Amino acid sequence: MPTSNKKLLAWVNDLVDLCQPDAVVWCDGSKQEWETMCQIMVNTGTAKKLDENKRPNSYYVRSVPEDVARVEDRTFICSEKQEDAGPTNNWCDPAEMRETLNGLFNGCMKGRTMYVIPFNMGPIGSDISQIGVEVSDSPYVVASMHIMARVGNAVLETLGNDDFVPCVHTVGAPLEPGQQDAPWPCNPDNRYIVHYPETREIWSHGSGYGGNALLGKKCFALRIASSMGREEGWLAEHMLIMKLTNPEGETQYVAGAFPSACGKTNLAMITPSLPGWKVETIGDDICWMKFGEDGQLYAINPEAGFFGVAPGTSMASNANAMLSMTKNSIFTNVAETDDGDVWWEGMTETPPAHLIDWKGNDWTPDSDTPAAHPNARFTAPAEQCPVIADEWQDPEGVPISAILFGGRRASVVPLVTEALDWNHGTFMGTIIASEMTAAAFGTIGKLRRDPMAMLPFCGYNMADYWGHWLKMGHKQGAKLPKVFYVNWFRKNDAGKFMWPGFGENSRVLKWIFERCNGKAEALATPIGMMPTLEAIDMDGLDINETDKANLFRVDIEGWLQELPSIKDYYESFGSHLPEELWQQIAELKKRLESEQQAVA
Ligand code: GTP
Ligand code: SPV
Ligand code: MN
Repeated sequence: MPTSNKKLLAWVNDLVDLCQPDAVVWCDGSKQEWETMCQIMVNTGTAKKLDENKRPNSYYVRSVPEDVARVEDRTFICSEKQEDAGPTNNWCDPAEMRETLNGLFNGCMKGRTMYVIPFNMGPIGSDISQIGVEVSDSPYVVASMHIMARVGNAVLETLGNDDFVPCVHTVGAPLEPGQQDAPWPCNPDNRYIVHYPETREIWSHGSGYGGNALLGKKCFALRIASSMGREEGWLAEHMLIMKLTNPEGETQYVAGAFPSACGKTNLAMITPSLPGWKVETIGDDICWMKFGEDGQLYAINPEAGFFGVAPGTSMASNANAMLSMTKNSIFTNVAETDDGDVWWEGMTETPPAHLIDWKGNDWTPDSDTPAAHPNARFTAPAEQCPVIADEWQDPEGVPISAILFGGRRASVVPLVTEALDWNHGTFMGTIIASEMTAAAFGTIGKLRRDPMAMLPFCGYNMADYWGHWLKMGHKQGAKLPKVFYVNWFRKNDAGKFMWPGFGENSRVLKWIFERCNGKAEALATPIGMMPTLEAIDMDGLDINETDKANLFRVDIEGWLQELPSIKDYYESFGSHLPEELWQQIAELKKRLESEQQAVA
């Protein structure tokens, strides 16, 4: 055994008794181990090695159509009391759930190997970091965790005899002696992604994909961590972290929450179109923030890799992501080219003449289904990102100057608005609504509330989480970041995005940067502070005057129409809804109505 941690040894022993694997392997995190996992996946038909000359040390994996995204309706927060999970989470009584899971996990790893994966979320040794141990019967999970987290012996050394978050994962497909394994074993009829926030445990059954199976990511770093943060006074958020440098060499760090597949990875590593500006990446999905002694919020990226949406990613839209995945990467549910490489919609303007699609079928540009699944993803080490910031692993974290909220909104929400203060900024976060994407099972394009981009990821009552945000703002001596609401996705009457997005978002980032250092002008509007028309550099942009005006238009009627639905939404949280938020609605209404009268 590579550890003498009593809790860990006893826990693994109990799991061996319960799951009955054929073998147990303690993962050391070595290069050799990665190679072994990949070789196992190749042998079982889970993975194919890509051409070594085109994409060294990289693999192609195809899941099954039933297992391609997070399953929100099978994700549970099992707190002792239902109201502590709140109306936005699925709840089940923990005792009842334990019984269900005991049944399902009994013998679930027969014919398989149990891998014990110690992992560290965050730079090893940082005060903000946390340690977990994932037990899994999936070599794909082991290989992916090698990229996404710091894993193995180094973690056990840091752990010593301390506590850790236990995470149990199985694909839920035991093998009878002699039974041939499936290339992608899973158990779609018995999927359970379960969290016990009070005892800080995670149990996942039946899926091998992404956030369902890589338990350090959404399960630990968001659901369990958000609940830890509430108890301990910090924040675990679904946010990118970026470093901005202006032409004068001044720097600022910005965090940004956007719902799944709404642009975090893209924004985190954009190539700014504005000359002289520099963007560097700290993280693209998750951000943990704690107050430093100076009262500022310091952020770390708990992850070590990117699990990014492949479709739409190209040298034109996100060159730095493309360059991050040139080697040592895993590709899941993209399409395979005839010469041993990968392709997805949007990677090149002209698709290859022939591909094998994500389902394993022949594909040509005449096919009427996409070659890659819309939620196909690349898994790549963060250190391979050409613009990864030098300080991305700084154990102290980086001080955050601004927090961005955003979502996909075809109407109403303007390009950028600055919150009046922390409470107003929190309010902005609570009212994010976004059109649903392929990152989770559901109706794509449907508008739903996704507060702080945390709807699927908050480990406790969402209204209490808002209360926690408000409370963070009351901390004595806090030097809080400014908060902004951005929307790259507003459409015109022809249904076209009015804003070019991607690298051009740097124009908005410049205004945000200059609001933080006091150099940019702003106008007070009923919904917050907005740039004056001259304050955003539009030089060289091909946007007509109507669209330009509409990007910044405060849609008084649209906002007034939205208020009742926000009120209904708030009411669904009953007495948990913080009073300050009711006050925010009342004040917004007053500002909108007085503007309406002034115009009339
Ligand atoms: P998760 O990893 O699921 O949490 O998502 P993410 O927020 O990191 O999403 P990502 O950056 O991968 O966004 C993916 C989708 O958003 C792709 O379809 C992109 O083409 C699109 N997208 C990203 N940035 C922009 C933008 O500025 N404008 C427009 N119109 N689309 C964008
Ligand atoms: C998301 O859906 O927000 C993701 C992908 O980042 S997954 O890790 O699968 O949740
Ligand atoms: Mn995400």
